[in-house]
Formats: sequence, structure tokens, C-alpha cells
Amino acid sequence: MDIEKVVNLAKRRGFIFPSSEIYGGLSGFYDYGPLGTILKRKITKSWYEFFVKPEEKIFEIETSQIMHKKVWEASGHLKDFIDPLTQCKKCHSNYRADDLIQEKTGLLVEGLKPEELTKIIHEKKINCPRCSGELSDVKIFNLMLATDIGPVSGDTAYLRPETAQGIFTNFKNIISSMRATLPFGVVQHGKSYRNEISPRQWIMRLREFNQIEIEMFFNPKKENDVPNFKEFAKTKIKILKQNGNPIDISAENAVKEKIIPNNFMAYFLAKEFLWYQQLGIPIEALRFRHMGKHETPHYSKGNFDLEIKFDFGWKEVVGNAYRTDFDLTTHQKYSGETFAMVDDDEKVVPHVVEPSFGMPRTVYAILLYAYREGTDRGWEWLQIPPKLAPISFGVFPLVNKDKIPEEAKKIYKTLKSNYEVLFDDSGSIGKRYARADETGVPFCITIDYDSLKKKTVTIRDRDSTKQILVKTKDLEKILQKLFSGELKFEKAGKLVK
Ligand code: GLY
Repeated sequence: MDIEKVVNLAKRRGFIFPSSEIYGGLSGFYDYGPLGTILKRKITKSWYEFFVKPEEKIFEIETSQIMHKKVWEASGHLKDFIDPLTQCKKCHSNYRADDLIQEKTGLLVEGLKPEELTKIIHEKKINCPRCSGELSDVKIFNLMLATDIGPVSGDTAYLRPETAQGIFTNFKNIISSMRATLPFGVVQHGKSYRNEISPRQWIMRLREFNQIEIEMFFNPKKENDVPNFKEFAKTKIKILKQNGNPIDISAENAVKEKIIPNNFMAYFLAKEFLWYQQLGIPIEALRFRHMGKHETPHYSKGNFDLEIKFDFGWKEVVGNAYRTDFDLTTHQKYSGETFAMVDDDEKVVPHVVEPSFGMPRTVYAILLYAYREGTDRGWEWLQIPPKLAPISFGVFPLVNKDKIPEEAKKIYKTLKSNYEVLFDDSGSIGKRYARADETGVPFCITIDYDSLKKKTVTIRDRDSTKQILVKTKDLEKILQKLFSGELKFEKAGKLVK
């Protein structure tokens, strides 16, 4: 897996651009280009349809990205949202100490104390990777990005490092405006910000990124009463246990065997395992890792990270935290509000399970697993699942004369009302197929002289490069069925030899 090829293609064809590039770029910031923006929108839509639509009681909100200092005091982020920092004494490059140690020695050291990390750096003789200079003792570094509000400096607020706090701080507004009863979910997607010590690996570790978070609130006495659990109870997932042993187990058995804390958590793990396969990630490249105590976030009683196998190794893409009543209780304490709800005639501060999806890492994984070098066809291409492909169809007039462009434009306009469609009339047909393949267009339609005489068009399949002939009047219906997977390509029309 050569990620550089993916990064180059993603830039060249309008998926991901380095931010502020004309001024040399800004480390940890990337922009979505025209196709990347559509891809992100389609991922979010797919997520919404799979995780939000089927739920009876779930509410979506959109809250401020800059929030009051008190929010972060209460949430614990000002104190505990930290990473270990070491600096080169010679060239002053900064490194996240645990990542550097892991890279150099393979040791998993996330969550160790600064003194312990310093000791390992000395013992293993780790120097600055850039200039081989000596590294400083490890210090803790807070990842919150602060900003001054208004004309007077010192009125500090913070850019949110997670979308979740907008949900907790609005808890009372949500339950009273929506007359919510337990259990219910609240979701939010949007930007979050973290002052990462050393952003790297393309869009893997960023300072600004999109998150999609679900907070599922429930009565802790009914932690296994999940409305739609039955549908996913038998779904098999892979878990890497805290002792390092992998296990394939159904969602329901993982709870029975006390590996996962409750059915709410198991429900989401099962759904995530299925959803990422729908995004084109092979099952062998998916696993949950039960995080060790030392690496579990301060607010969580247990974390299961959905990890994907990337070009450089396994990495978290979704964090699943059992946040219990940690956030609601601390916000009660700091704000004086009460967040108790009545359930079964008893007052209860709800518990919460939180799946937190990282959008850039999801995009990274989709592009990585979709990328094909295409040595057989002579150009690179992307095998993105049709529903996620930014452009669904290409429409190509074979020649630019004899009323063929007009016929092609007619078809283009009809398809465009329901899909993203590319109209391309420049260069040879082969070049146009190559350009479409590079951006993952699943099906291309060519309009030729037969389209005028016999009212037929050719559909070309991205994955097999085969072509079929279909009647123009059936085109949209056939494309719809090809798109949904209801119809196999070779059965959809007459194969063109
Ligand atoms: N809300 C959890 C996280 O952002 O990591």
C-alpha cells in the first residue's frame, strides 16, 4: 500500500488539498476539494441513514464550536486533555513522546507518566529523528486551542476538542423542548480542534477535523434494554482484548461474557463493524481494541476503539466510550443545574454510551482501500463503493458533431436531477474513461450514432471495464438498479464485444 500514490491522486483529482498551500501550508490543516466535499457529504448521508434514521428517539443538533471556559473546566479537558511532549535540544523540533517511542521501539506506551517516558527515551537512546540531537525531558502539553473573545484580551474561550460537550451542555434544553424520555440519543457532526504536538500522516492526525458523535442516554438500571438490539445481537465482531488476545464473538455474547459493559455499547460496535464494511473496508482490516486502563480517557469507564489497518499499522477511527454519568454530573456540579430525569417513577441521572467517528480517518481508509494501481488498464483508479463515489455517472458524446452532443446533453440533464453526473466531451473516449476511473465514477454512458438511429446507448462498468448496450428509454431505470446492486452489470444489457 503506497499512501503517497493515494495522496497525490487525491490532490490531483480534487479530493484533499493542503490548507493555505500558496503560503507554504499549515501543519495539521487540510481542505476538502470539490470531489472530497461530495465524498464527505455522501459518507455523512450513509452514516445518517444507518445510525440515525432507524432510531425512534434520536435528535440532531448543531452547537457552537467556541465554548465557555467553564465548560472545559467542568468536562476535565483543561486539566486532563494532555499529551506528552519532548523537544529536540538542538533543532527544537517537537514530538509526541509516546508516538516517538512506539515508532522507534514498537513499545505501546500511551498513558505512561512523563517521568516514565523520559526514562525510556534515555534507556533506549532515542534521539531527534530530524537532526539526531538530544531530546528534552518529557512534559505534559494541553491540547486545547484557546482564543480571545471580543476586543479585550484575556476573555479566553476555547475551540471545542469534541462535539460531545455541546450535547451535554444543552441536555436540559433538549429534553424539555423534545419531551424526551429514556432511552434517547443526541447526535452532532461538525468541526473539532486539537492543538496536536506533531500533526502527521496526511489527514490522520489533524488540528482541525470533522467528528460525528452520538450520545445515547439511558437509565443505568436498564443498561441492556436497547430498542433495536435484536437486529444486531448475533452480528460477529472482532475484539482485541486488553490482554492482547483477539476474539471473534457475537455482540450479545460479548456482553454475556462481560467483555463489553452493556448492550448499548454492543449495539453500536456491531453496527460500526457492518457500516465500515459497507464503506469498502475489508473485514480483515477491522477490529475493536479494548483500551488499557492507562490509555482510557478521563471521562470513560471503558473504551473500545474501532481500529482500521492502515498502510502504517492499526489506528483508531471510532472511539466508543462508556462515559457513564461523568459529564452530566460534573456539569450539574459546576453549573448548579439539575439533569436528573424521571424514569420508572424514579429520578435518575442518565448514563451515556458515546460512539465518536473521525471523518478524516474514515476518508483516509476509504481512499486507501479504494485505490487501484491499474497496471492492467494503464491508469490508476478508485474502486469506491458506488453510493459513495462523488460522481455517480459520466456522460460522453462519442463525437462533437451530427447532433450527438445534443442527445448526450439531454441524457445528462435527466440524470443530473437525481445524481452527480460528469459531462465530458474532450479527448478520446479512452482518455475520458481513464479520467472517470481516477475519480471512481462507477458507470459511464457513451452516446454514439446508434443512439440517434436505434435509440441505444453504451454503459461502461468501472470495475470490469466491460460495456453493455441498453435502450435509451430504459437507461435511468437500469442505472438505478446497477447503482443499488439490484442488477448485475452483465445481466443489465447486451454485452458489447
Ligand atoms: N468525544 C470523544 C473524543 O472526541 O475523542
